[in-house]
Amino acid sequence: MNQDKKLERTLVLLKPNIVMRGLMGEIITRFERKGLRIVGMKMMQLSDALLAEHYAHLVAKPFFPILRNSMQATPVVALCLEGLDVVRVVRAMAGPTNGRDAQPGTIRGDYSVSNQHNVVHASDCVEVAAVELARFFQADEIFELGDLNINRLYALDELD
Ligand code: TYD
Repeated sequence: MNQDKKLERTLVLLKPNIVMRGLMGEIITRFERKGLRIVGMKMMQLSDALLAEHYAHLVAKPFFPILRNSMQATPVVALCLEGLDVVRVVRAMAGPTNGRDAQPGTIRGDYSVSNQHNVVHASDCVEVAAVELARFFQADEIFELGDLNINRLYALDELD
């Protein structure tokens, strides 16, 4: 088994809305139940500079100051999740940006009625995930779990 070659990692942020509503545990539980491995987790107060970098594609939008304030309302929880195709899996679990468009059963569909207070951030592709993880985590804040529970999560030939 050579899971290190195939397992991907992605960044999830539990946004202040989830921290304020006391729902951090519920959201983390959904990822654990799915079988995604948590290999990094911490609380962070996001700076103006970090948010301008993270949302560089939105800095010029009129809603950016409101978005920045809402992302700074409390610390966020940053998670590094690991699994096969984990970027795609987590985006599917999160659902589309606007909580009102998100299907029930998705995280945004179940916990959000808002376009902006949409409860989680999830990296949108593998390349972006690598950049975002480096932005939010130091190398020694992400852990190697090795084989651990891998045989419970995947068939052997999925990791060959
Ligand atoms: P974006 O990167 O487009 O979406 P996603 O988070 O689904 O990858 O937008 C980043 C965040 O900006 C989004 O989660 C909520 C906020 N946002 C608004 O507040 N208003 C908007 O019109 C859009 C498009 C995003």
